[in-house]
Amino acid sequence: MKILITGGAGFIGSNFIRYLLASRKDIQLVNFDKFTYAGNAENLADLSKDPRYALVRGDICDAPALKSLFAAGFDVLVHFAAETHVDRSIENVSPFLQTNILGTQCLLESARRAPKLRFIHISTDEVYGSAPAGGTFTEVSALDPQSPYAASKAAAEHFVRAYGNTYGLDFVILRCTNNYGPYQFPEKFIPLILANAGDNKSIPVYGDGMQERDWLFVEDFCSAISLAMDKARPGSLYNVSAGSPQPNLHIVRAILQILGKPDFLIQHVQDRPGHDRRYAIDSSKIRTELGWGPSFTFEEGLRKTIAWYQENREWLDHARSGEYSSYYDRHYTYRSETFRT
Ligand SMILES: NC(=O)c1ccc[n+]([C@@H]2O[C@H](COP(=O)([O-])OP(=O)(O)OC[C@H]3O[C@@H](n4cnc5c(N)ncnc54)[C@H](O)[C@@H]3O)[C@@H](O)[C@H]2O)c1
Repeated sequence: MKILITGGAGFIGSNFIRYLLASRKDIQLVNFDKFTYAGNAENLADLSKDPRYALVRGDICDAPALKSLFAAGFDVLVHFAAETHVDRSIENVSPFLQTNILGTQCLLESARRAPKLRFIHISTDEVYGSAPAGGTFTEVSALDPQSPYAASKAAAEHFVRAYGNTYGLDFVILRCTNNYGPYQFPEKFIPLILANAGDNKSIPVYGDGMQERDWLFVEDFCSAISLAMDKARPGSLYNVSAGSPQPNLHIVRAILQILGKPDFLIQHVQDRPGHDRRYAIDSSKIRTELGWGPSFTFEEGLRKTIAWYQENREWLDHARSGEYSSYYDRHYTYRSETFRT
């Protein structure tokens, strides 16, 4: 099986590449990534000698680059590449329109011409907007995105469906909840808590910290994607969640407790504008139809995550200092050029 991954140098993409290489023998994987600030070549450093894996630096908005890439012929494309940080989308919307909407459409143009390609589109529960108290969204609930990031992801999904309906593209959309685990860039909630607590620095918590999120351990999401590659019906859509929503403040307290750090490190800061109060989705469809379920409780996933950050202090230091950003140029250019010719 030849698999194209976009955005595989980011958090979930790099975990997914690792998951596939560990769980499947007969695959060839190409990771196509622009290496924005969120792309970290150190996430995949130990895989660079695996003959089943190749890395190509490129932008999903670059149609000629995609044309030459698709000439390799792929069976499956898993589309992770995106601008992903809500706070950044509030600061500057343009990169979100460019990559998440136009980039996805550019990728779809190449994908629709590729014979027998399955397009797995990675979306988010944020497309539903904030859930009412006690309620959960199913796959047929209306989309009501509330942040520029969420709006760009909702728009991207519409194009994926439109390409399925109009051109017969075989697609699957997965809407997952917040992921956590190894290799997550430390601007995001859980690694930020771990990094700051480790340095005895204050931990910023938006507003009262009672925003509810349903955290999913990244390895569990990887198993859902892998199942969808093999078993989902063309044109299907699945919510993916662990099913144990809890307030942000509880997460911070749980981490501080495991680390043996004091609660006074918590610092409430002004809430994010338009901050969704509650995300809650019903994932019974993927559990029933594909037989998926999470393998890790939140407690287990959190302990594994904390242990990983503690054992990989150098990765965290490089991510925080910016040193990671030169890693690609120092190690990978030759492999990328080899693939292109
Ligand atoms: N992390 C989460 O909790 C979460 C939750 C729901 C959905 N998602 C979705 O999952 C996907 C992956 O999220 P993540 O957290 O791993 O993201 P990330 O920010 O860690 O990584 C994004 C990757 O995409 C690459 N990229 C960005 N623009 C590109 C472009 N124009 N061309 C090629 N590559 C480009 C970056 O270099 C980076 O490697 C995204 O589509 C995101 O919307 C993430």
